[in-house]
Amino acid sequence: MYERIAEAVADNPGVCLVIGAPDTGKSTFCAFLASYCAERGLSTAVIDADVGQADIGPPATVSMGQVAGVHASLADIAPAAHYFVGSISPRGAETLSVVAGRRMVDEAKRRGSDVIIIDTTGAVRGRMGRMLKTAKMDVLLPAHVVALQRENELEHLPLRHHGVPALRAPALPGARSRSRWERAFLRRQRFAQYLVNLEEQTISWDSLILRRTFLLSGRPLDRDLRLRLTRALGDHVHHGEEVPEGLLAVVDGRHRREAIESVARKEGVDRLILLRREDLSDLYIGLDDERGDCLGVGLLRQIDFTCGVIRMGVPPGLVHRVAGITLGSIRVSPDGKELGFSPAGLRS
Ligand SMILES: Nc1ncnc2c1ncn2[C@@H]1O[C@H](COP(=O)(O)OP(=O)(O)OP(=O)(O)O)[C@@H](O)[C@H]1O
Ligand SMILES: [Mg+2]
Repeated sequence: MYERIAEAVADNPGVCLVIGAPDTGKSTFCAFLASYCAERGLSTAVIDADVGQADIGPPATVSMGQVAGVHASLADIAPAAHYFVGSISPRGAETLSVVAGRRMVDEAKRRGSDVIIIDTTGAVRGRMGRMLKTAKMDVLLPAHVVALQRENELEHLPLRHHGVPALRAPALPGARSRSRWERAFLRRQRFAQYLVNLEEQTISWDSLILRRTFLLSGRPLDRDLRLRLTRALGDHVHHGEEVPEGLLAVVDGRHRREAIESVARKEGVDRLILLRREDLSDLYIGLDDERGDCLGVGLLRQIDFTCGVIRMGVPPGLVHRVAGITLGSIRVSPDGKELGFSPAGLRS
């Protein structure tokens, strides 16, 4: 049955979206399908759209790899392009996840791929699962949708797309479920693989374009206002900016919402946006080239607001190509340990 599906895809090459609940064998099937198509002489690319359990490329990215020969696992496929999502779950980053898929399909097409296979996350239920799967179909216009299901857990989704019925198959017989712990452990190894050998670089923030953040997007606050904020919050304001949304301040401590709102009212602004210095240490970032395309991932180690420089970890040999950084919303230590959410990077 799986061969029959692979044959149908290879006979009518195009974009093929593989969907299924968690642990139904999606990634294993994608590796089989990719190998089958490559063996048939088709130029084949795989897009790994699973930001939490990325096999191709770093976690929190959607990465694309071109297939050369037979691969038992997607993890054997070398990444050729990335889109930085910056979040290890599509939750709260739905738009970015859909954009990422489209950008990687375009990139695979630009490189002349006939078959473009997209491996997805197991999110198929609830508002997010429904919205993500339908939006992806609308945006990626797949020629094939492969639906792997144990029982009928995908039947609530509009699987017939543009008049083409989905290619249905049972979950792979050998697929086993992985616990949260196992997923976190695997992800830690994947993070470490990309972060452990970074080179420490210090770059003037004037020479970098920062994306997806309020930070360094406004006008610096004058000294008086910074001192007033420091006094009102009882916390040193290391850096402040006037942004269209109100005021932005970088502080050390946590503050209650009511206290923040009261300071904003006193200053006559809509919002006071607070970032903690900790939010900006070991922040997972995408490294952008001059076109804004993702070159790889790194870590924002610290921002020195006195000197106007950003200390960051960059893969060896890449720094001369980095024109900007995209801030993620997770902090990670260089050995791959997840340190938690950071509000410094915006997502949607
Ligand atoms: N036919 C098989 N025989 C043995 N093990 C298998 C087989 N198919 C899949 N597995 C194993 O089962 C697990 C789940 O499979 P896979 O990663 O392909 O599922 P998935 O649907 O992509 O999962 P996720 O929702 O986490 O992305 C993996 O550890 C995989 O190695
Ligand atoms: Mg998978």
